[in-house]
Amino acid sequence: MSALEQRLQSALDSRASRQMLRALDPSPPSSSTLVDFSSNDYLSFSRSTVLRQKLVDVVNDDATPLYGPPSSRLLDGNTPLHASLERRLAAFFAAPSALLFNSGFDANVGLWTCLPGPDDWIIFDALVHASMHDGMRASRVPRQRRRAFRHNRVESLERVLVDIVERDVGVRKGEKSVWVGVESLYSMDGDLAPLPDMVEVLERLLPRGNGHMVVDEAHSSGLYGPRGRGLVSALELERRITVRVHTFGKAMACSGAAVLASPLIRHFLVNYARPLIYSTVSTHLSALAVSKSLEMLEEGKSDEPAAHVHALAVRLVSRLSSLLPPASSVSLPPHLSSIITSSSTATAAPHPPTSPIVPLLTPSPRPLAAFLRTRGFLARPITYPTVPRGEERLRVCLHAGNTQREVDGLCEAVAEWVRRGERGVGHDELVALRSAEPLQAKL
Ligand SMILES: Cc1ncc(COP(=O)(O)O)c(C=O)c1O
Repeated sequence: MSALEQRLQSALDSRASRQMLRALDPSPPSSSTLVDFSSNDYLSFSRSTVLRQKLVDVVNDDATPLYGPPSSRLLDGNTPLHASLERRLAAFFAAPSALLFNSGFDANVGLWTCLPGPDDWIIFDALVHASMHDGMRASRVPRQRRRAFRHNRVESLERVLVDIVERDVGVRKGEKSVWVGVESLYSMDGDLAPLPDMVEVLERLLPRGNGHMVVDEAHSSGLYGPRGRGLVSALELERRITVRVHTFGKAMACSGAAVLASPLIRHFLVNYARPLIYSTVSTHLSALAVSKSLEMLEEGKSDEPAAHVHALAVRLVSRLSSLLPPASSVSLPPHLSSIITSSSTATAAPHPPTSPIVPLLTPSPRPLAAFLRTRGFLARPITYPTVPRGEERLRVCLHAGNTQREVDGLCEAVAEWVRRGERGVGHDELVALRSAEPLQAKL
């Protein structure tokens, strides 16, 4: 073995010995017969015949370019299709402008790297996505001015902000900006950010308008707000949030992302966001796919699927709450127990309290996932380092294509696993347990 091979192998061996080895799943939901409780295809758009036909119709038109343009957006890649898609996205999301990126990862890295100035501060929820971390780290804001606050805790955000305001006269005078990074729906916990309270704290403590919220709506696009415009729209906060990121790779079943912000910020990103400048623009085909998915939202075709997903979430949580004995090896996180009793299910609430992501806390997520496979269900175990030690879970993702029966079957299977303890598993199940899928990267 060369020195390089030895180094790579030993790093992988070390991961394996800590049960942290990642690997590609040979049978993802799209190619398996298991019921999908795993993918981010929340609206089941990837299986929609209506959406498929929309794309097929336009693709079959000989005049439609599909491949290319083999160029950066800044050179020969600013096609009418990409430009018009951005205008439609801006109009749909009630934003002053939109800028396309090839992925949500690129969007977050691009904007976080260049928007905060060297004298600014960055504050972020402790559970934000890896792409935001990478962007923040690559920004010009030094480490001591990048602060985390406790996940979804407004009082923690407030404490960090008060400290910054007390320390930094430039912030008090409104000369330096404070950037706050959050997600609207967290992918590992399935909980929603308390955006109105966060915005209120930011505006109260920084009355000169130098507090800027950046909200990543990757998991909430299509599921909240009128016609799936996202949580910010559901709460009518569009004008109080500086930047929104909507990604196309989840409910919209495509790939790419849009950054929604002022024309000035857009212009700045066109000049400084490196993943945009130094990368080939998405193909015509990809932009067409996004455009057709967006059309589904514009036409209100996500309303019913989204409502079904929220109804399934209520069903899943209520059934599990009644099936799982107290202090069992599987439990629901506290924020979910309020859902079934919550008055916010009332129609007057600005959005449903539920989410398509339901984590089942258990110290044994891999054996549970393997057992569920034997019962025909695919749900992923999530372990350290994706979540902190002691917070391991099985993550259930609900989709419009899931039926009530499937949800009931999943609940029964989880309850059966709990009843059996983790023993009493048959031979076939043991084989499945051994091939339990490895740790999943944060999605
Ligand atoms: C919150 C969040 N932001 C951004 C991303 C990255 O988006 P994309 O998959 O389009 O790169 C993801 C997941 O992939 C995510 O969960």
